[in-house]
Parts: sequence; structure tokens; C-alpha cells
Amino acid sequence: MDGMLSLDSFYEHRPVNVLERETVRDAIVAEKLVKRYITKKRAGLFRSRTEVVDALKGISFRIRAGEVVGLLGPNGAGKTTTIKILSTLLLPDSGRASVWGYDVVREAQKVRRVIGIMLSVEKGFYGRLTGRENLIYFGSLYGMEAGELKRRVDYLLDLVGLEELGGSDRLYEEYSLGMKARLALARALLRDPPVLLLDEPTLGLDPPSARRIRGLVRELATRDGKAVVYTSHNMFEVELVCDRIILINKGEVVAEGTPEELKSTLPKVRTLELHLERIPEGLIDEIRSYGLEVREPTQAPDGLFVLRVLARRPEEILDDVVRAATSRGVDVARLRIEEPTLEDVFVYFTERGTRDGGSG
Ligand SMILES: Nc1ncnc2c1ncn2[C@@H]1O[C@H](COP(=O)(O)OP(=O)(O)O)[C@@H](O)[C@H]1O
Ligand SMILES: [Mg+2]
Repeated sequence: MDGMLSLDSFYEHRPVNVLERETVRDAIVAEKLVKRYITKKRAGLFRSRTEVVDALKGISFRIRAGEVVGLLGPNGAGKTTTIKILSTLLLPDSGRASVWGYDVVREAQKVRRVIGIMLSVEKGFYGRLTGRENLIYFGSLYGMEAGELKRRVDYLLDLVGLEELGGSDRLYEEYSLGMKARLALARALLRDPPVLLLDEPTLGLDPPSARRIRGLVRELATRDGKAVVYTSHNMFEVELVCDRIILINKGEVVAEGTPEELKSTLPKVRTLELHLERIPEGLIDEIRSYGLEVREPTQAPDGLFVLRVLARRPEEILDDVVRAATSRGVDVARLRIEEPTLEDVFVYFTERGTRDGGSG
């Protein structure tokens, strides 16, 4: 192909969604990953019971360089299991996965060189060492040259904001959760890996730390072209940082796309939201008897109960729903009609399997 543009550089200039299913620049490929946990539970003095959990039931996805992909799913969906397989901490029972072109089973050592990992329950830092000393320790383990390591550590302590928090030279055991997470991100970046695997990196953090980490993740992908897998069960958060979302539930990929794409895959259903002082007996059943879907009520910060009713044309059912409430002696304090949110997508795809067998 004399002088012609290579296929790779051709695709690079196309919009991202055109790349779908192409193998151009795949940073991570997972194909039909299966993982089953078998544990023995004590059931009395001399008996034990075997418990089988199908954590992953054949999940497949691809992630490109420069992309932050959210693995979103409720607790127990299989997010951590996926991260552990990609980071070679756990072997899949079947299926295959590769990271930066290396097979996670056959080339585990090479995979470890190209990833930075952050687990939600961080282990391995030394309480009696400072943040800086911890990073130096891990850098030496990785075989980094002393001068380069020192420069890298200074740079990273500044990058994650530990320097400005006065944390660089404080003992790790005195760190707050947010500082621990910042240090874990710094450690993940020590060798400047092209792929980052972050398991609920902001879980339980103070807002400034969470914001700093999200901002850095965005920048590392956009500016440095890193591929980032970011697990979370928080829709608000993934919408903020992720280019694309892979929604998993019970070990299966149930939906995939940009936040906008996911919202548009929903049936054109909108939400009628009612704020009530209380949820009277029989109200939800009556609304459901109209053939409408009603979510479990939640409570707003002001103490009012929030009832969400899904409908194609909420305007048309509004009167009936309000009457159902007032006839039970409850006034509707607030009422609004909302377009689908990512949360609706989440609920739609994670509940439909249990509700109606997955047809729709
Ligand atoms: N070491 C383990 N032994 C037995 N079951 C496990 C183990 N780790 C995870 N599981 C089970 O596998 C399923 C998926 O877990 P996990 O990958 O941690 O989900 P998530 O990170 O999405 O919350 C859950 O049902 C969980 O209880
Ligand atoms: Mg998890």
C-alpha cells in the first residue's frame, strides 16, 4: 500500500462510535469471561454446605486507549471480579482477556507491567512509613532507578494533591480515607502505565478527594491517552467521568454505550414524580392497577416521600394519579415530569431480568 494512509491512522480520525467492534487500538479485550466461586460454609458441627456463585456468566467488552469506561452495576454484579481478572489477581474459569495485547493468563507478568491498579480495599501500604516513603518503597520493588524514582514520586505527590495537603511526609497510618485513595492512585501511576484499573476509586471519600481523583482520571485519559476502567455503582459519578458505560448485572453485560445512547435506548417512557407527605395504604397498588410502573418510594431531603410513576405520556395519567392520592387524604406537595436519567437506565436494565424475564 505505497504511501497510503494506514488503516489505523485512518480510523483514529473518525468519531469514536464508528470504531465500534473494530480492533483498532483495543487496550482491553474481554471475551466471554466466566468466573464461578465455590465456597464451603459450615452448617453445623460436622457438616458443611457448598455454595456456588456464578459471578461472571460470560462477559465481553472492548476498551480503547484514551477512553474512560465505567463498569457500572449494583453490588454483587461482578465488577470487582472483572477487575481482578484483568489485573491477573484471579484466573477466569473460561473465556479470555487481554490487556495492551497481553493475555492475562499466559502473559500475566507483562500485563502487570502495563497496568496501574487501585482496589477499593487497599492493602499493602505501610502504616509506619510516610506517603513518600511508601511510594519510594514500591518504586524500588518495581526496579525503578533511584533518581528517576525520586522525580516521579515528587511529581505524583503533587499531582494527587498530597503535597498541598501536607501528606507527603506524614505517616500513612495518620492518613484520612481521601489521602489513602490519593496515595493509591499515585502508586498506580508510578510506572506511568497505559492502562488503569480502578475499582470504586472514590467510594466513601470526602468530596474534594473524590473530585480530584475524577478530574485526574479524565485528564489521564484525554491528555495522556490512557485507557481507564472505572467501576462504580453510582450513576451520577460515572456520568461525570466516563465516555462510555458498560452496565453489568448478575455477571452479564446488560447494556453498553455513552450515557446519551443508553438513555435513548430506553422505551420512550418519562417519569411523573410526585412529592407526598406520606404514602397512603393502597395508593401504589391503585396506580399499578392502571398498568403503570411505580418505583419504590424514596425520601427527599426535605422529608417528603417521592413517588415515581413511569408513563409514555405522563400528562394523560396525571389527573388519575393525583386523584388517587387526594382521595386518600394526601395532598400532592410537588409534581413534575422528568425525562429519562441514567438512573432510569440502571433500574430498567438491572430490574427487568427479575421483573419479567428480560423481554422488555
Ligand atoms: N471470594 C469470593 N468467594 C465467594 N463469592 C464471592 C467472592 N468474591 C465475590 N463473590 C461473589 O461474587 C459475586 C460478584 O462479586 P463482585 O465481583 O465482588 O461484585 P461487585 O464488585 O460488582 O460488587 C457476588 O455475588 C459476590 O458475593
Ligand atoms: Mg466490588
